[in-house]
Amino acid sequence: MKTDIVEQIKDRLDIVEFIRQYVPGLKRAGKTYKACCPFHQEKTPSFTCSSEKGLFYCFGCQEGGDVIAFLMKIENLSFREALERLADQAGIEYQPVQTLTGEEQRRANVRKVLDFARGYYHKNLMSRAGEHARAYVKGRSLTRETCEHFELGLSPAQGVFTSAAKQSGYTEADLKDAGLCIQTEYGLREYFRNRLMFPIINQRGDTVGFGGRILGEGEPKYLNSPETILFTKSHVLYGLNFAGPAIRKADRAVLLEGYMDVIGCHQAGVAYTVAPLGTSLTAEHAKLLKRYTQNVIVLFDPDEAGLKAALRGALILTEEGIFVKVASLPDGLDPDEYIAQYGKEKFESILDHAQELIAFHLQRQIDLHPQPLSAQDKTSIVTELTQTIAKQPDGIVRREWVKYVAEHLGLDEQLVLQRLAQTEKSAALSNRYQAARQPAVINAAQVSRTPSAEEDLLSWILKSPQHIVLCSELTAEDFSSPALWQIFQTIIKAHMENPQAENLTELTAQALPQQKHEIAKLALLSVPDDFNPARDIAACAAKLEQAGIQKKLQAVTRQMKTYGTGNVPPDVFQTYMQLQRKLKQYRS
Ligand code: GTP
Ligand code: MN
Repeated sequence: MKTDIVEQIKDRLDIVEFIRQYVPGLKRAGKTYKACCPFHQEKTPSFTCSSEKGLFYCFGCQEGGDVIAFLMKIENLSFREALERLADQAGIEYQPVQTLTGEEQRRANVRKVLDFARGYYHKNLMSRAGEHARAYVKGRSLTRETCEHFELGLSPAQGVFTSAAKQSGYTEADLKDAGLCIQTEYGLREYFRNRLMFPIINQRGDTVGFGGRILGEGEPKYLNSPETILFTKSHVLYGLNFAGPAIRKADRAVLLEGYMDVIGCHQAGVAYTVAPLGTSLTAEHAKLLKRYTQNVIVLFDPDEAGLKAALRGALILTEEGIFVKVASLPDGLDPDEYIAQYGKEKFESILDHAQELIAFHLQRQIDLHPQPLSAQDKTSIVTELTQTIAKQPDGIVRREWVKYVAEHLGLDEQLVLQRLAQTEKSAALSNRYQAARQPAVINAAQVSRTPSAEEDLLSWILKSPQHIVLCSELTAEDFSSPALWQIFQTIIKAHMENPQAENLTELTAQALPQQKHEIAKLALLSVPDDFNPARDIAACAAKLEQAGIQKKLQAVTRQMKTYGTGNVPPDVFQTYMQLQRKLKQYRS
């Protein structure tokens, strides 16, 4: 039976056409098709697939197999999940007979809870209880159809959603697994209360989490679901589930900053727009977009932070083999406001006039230096620009960029090429150095600052106590010293006793006089330039949790060794497996 369905799927689906949905660049080469591999970074195509054989293979990374193996790998699915999807696409009836594995079961559960929540929040928005929220949405020029299309919702006051979910048969564990509730010392708390809810739906159409906007003014303006087995923020682009076909059709995508921008653009008919979830762009995002198009326009706020973010994002996209342009809107309007005011044509004309990445970067460098440029300025500008050129995998474009920079700075091309070679050499060296170090959770806030992650975290929650709830999973073992753990607990206590206080430094120091110097130091640590309390506190807490699990895992592994193979008591082994599973959640 099982082989039967596998054969049926392979008969019905052409592997080349299937893979093309993920790798639009597939080109015929004799009997087979070739493209740059979606599984590793490369400059010349070594990924091959053949309809006749029903197989794919990459000569670069040795990844290979049939259409099922391809889907499992690219979407990170189990065999059964891949079969279900493929059967669906091939129009074949498929009901799996075996029971789900624990992991699959948990994922399926979380999916169900999230679907329930999505429906619940949406209904709530559309009901009488949602009148104020509907007025807010209307004030932001969104139509009723748009609310329905994006299934916007409203999360009710504390407790209401939990009771409804329980009545429908969901358990507290389900709600926690789905990131909708969190356990605190003071009981189960709903994560989203009284917020305008944006279901976050991945490219496959699964609801994986939510964004919640405060109705009106207040902090934090947006809250995203915490990461769960289904939800990794850096792997999802908001709006992609709707934008996919439009991106393929227009053969371009636009990266915006926020939820509302995406919704506003889609409403106005520009549906090839997406946004990351308030985090910076990652290579995963780039890989995802590349399945739809090789052309991406980054649209940014024309302020300093926006310029920096645009360049950073553009470089990540470029490294993944995407051709990037950058555009900005006049008048300091957000895309949703701009398009509502000036319409689709004007908006698209701005996109059509987007700058090439190299032109954008050169312009920015020139703007940063006094005119006319001195010889020294030119040197530093060329060094800066070669870092962008070095990221361009396409040889032809690279050469054009070198020419462009040389011409615009009045320099010999040869000189630019030399500098490029130097840049590449030092990049290779530093890559080797970094590869030798432990991979760390990437957090912009941590780069080149001396305080430890725990100190950062403590200093941030002192200043932004409303985000303490994001640290509810931390335990004593996650801290490197009992003193820091004690400070952490004292801050939480101070927050619980004074939920309105905006800064807890005083209260914490009073409650813990013997630590007042340490607390003062924490209060004085500066926050990073692009500090985003919710995002950075959540990332930092996750990092500490992960490190804590790793420590426990090492201890258990040592313990297991003392028993020797075959003699490990079941409970020790179970602890070991549990920790491994937990760790995997942070990594996936
Ligand atoms: P509006 O003010 O509703 O127009 O929102 P926006 O979408 O224009 O948001 P903004 O440009 O202020 O921020 C861009 C994106 O960053 C948002 O869509 C969110 O994803 C994220 N973001 C903004 N503020 C916060 C915050 O306080 N916490 C978190 N976690 N994310 C935020
Ligand atoms: Mn906005």
